[in-house]
Amino acid sequence: MQEQKNNKDIYILGIESSCDDTGIAIVKNGREVIANVVASQIDIHKLYGGVVPEIASRNHVMNIDGALTECLNRANMTLKDIDAIAVTYGAGLLGALIVGVNFAKALAYSTGKPLIAVNHIEGHICANYIEFNQLEPPFVCLIVSGGHTALVEQTDFVTRKLIGTTTDDAIGEAFDKVARECGLEYPGGPNIQKQAALGTPCIKFITKPHDKNGYNFSYSGLKTAVINYLHNADQRGEVVSIPDVCASFQKEAVDQVVEKTVKACKNYGYYKIVLAGGVSANAALRETMKAEAAKIGAEVYCPRIGLCTDNAAMIASRGYFDYVNNKNIADPLTLEAQSTLPL
Ligand code: KG4
Ligand code: ZN
Repeated sequence: MQEQKNNKDIYILGIESSCDDTGIAIVKNGREVIANVVASQIDIHKLYGGVVPEIASRNHVMNIDGALTECLNRANMTLKDIDAIAVTYGAGLLGALIVGVNFAKALAYSTGKPLIAVNHIEGHICANYIEFNQLEPPFVCLIVSGGHTALVEQTDFVTRKLIGTTTDDAIGEAFDKVARECGLEYPGGPNIQKQAALGTPCIKFITKPHDKNGYNFSYSGLKTAVINYLHNADQRGEVVSIPDVCASFQKEAVDQVVEKTVKACKNYGYYKIVLAGGVSANAALRETMKAEAAKIGAEVYCPRIGLCTDNAAMIASRGYFDYVNNKNIADPLTLEAQSTLPL
């Protein structure tokens, strides 16, 4: 699978609307960000303690046109300069995805540009090609986000095999739920990290490792153990240390993915570990992964924070690799958003 079709520079317009961020970006040759606009809705969803799907869809409708104009202005380009349009068509909130998909279909149809259907988690992986100009597959990749926890073997730019996934909740979902129970604002992940830095991991929530010999993850037991700990303390009128609870939860959540990722790297014979998705912004995860990987001589790649969380530059990057390999080209009249996609 190749990286470049010919010597001409290729500009892909990326569109992302799978959750609560409306993203439009232009990326050159899959690696260089020309413009990356993210219209965040965090301040709105914060009021409800989490993403409200209908409100997310409505705000995508309000933001998407302006985000495109802003992106083209920042890039000093017009749609004529774009080679193809890449859009997240799944997985995510259906109503939110439909806004981006329909917008992309209309753009592709009216301009005659090719339309590329991008799987959101494959976009997350590609954020690393933007951050690390020389990075190439094969590698082992850990995708950790609000909706996914997956360990994959990326064999070339457009092919991957699933090694393991969560048997219940996604890791980001657990961060967000635990944060809410601790009285912290949405999005929970960054706030757990802040509280954890003030405490010590002195509470043991889970005593038995999950899927000891395999590569699958579980976060529901850990999440429930933390919630029960908080409720029991409340009923007994005991004061709990939220920083200690956060530090202990974060350590157990991080150790689980780190242990399995390093084991997979060793057993599959790779020396590159790539991190992707919103939870890979977590400092404890990045540090622990680097320390454990160093023990087996493996290198860890992780994008800057702004490329870990949802954005359209990563979607444009993946769109580029699909475009040059003639993969996932979609029909602008019939492409449909999918709330779930096979891993
Ligand atoms: O990739 P992403 O932006 O959206 C999805 O595809 O789901 O990931 C969002 C998730 C949320 O659960 C959020 O709490 C988590 O990423 N997150 C973090 C951190 N920053 C974002 N989790 C732990 N530590 C962080 N610093
Ligand atoms: Zn995401």
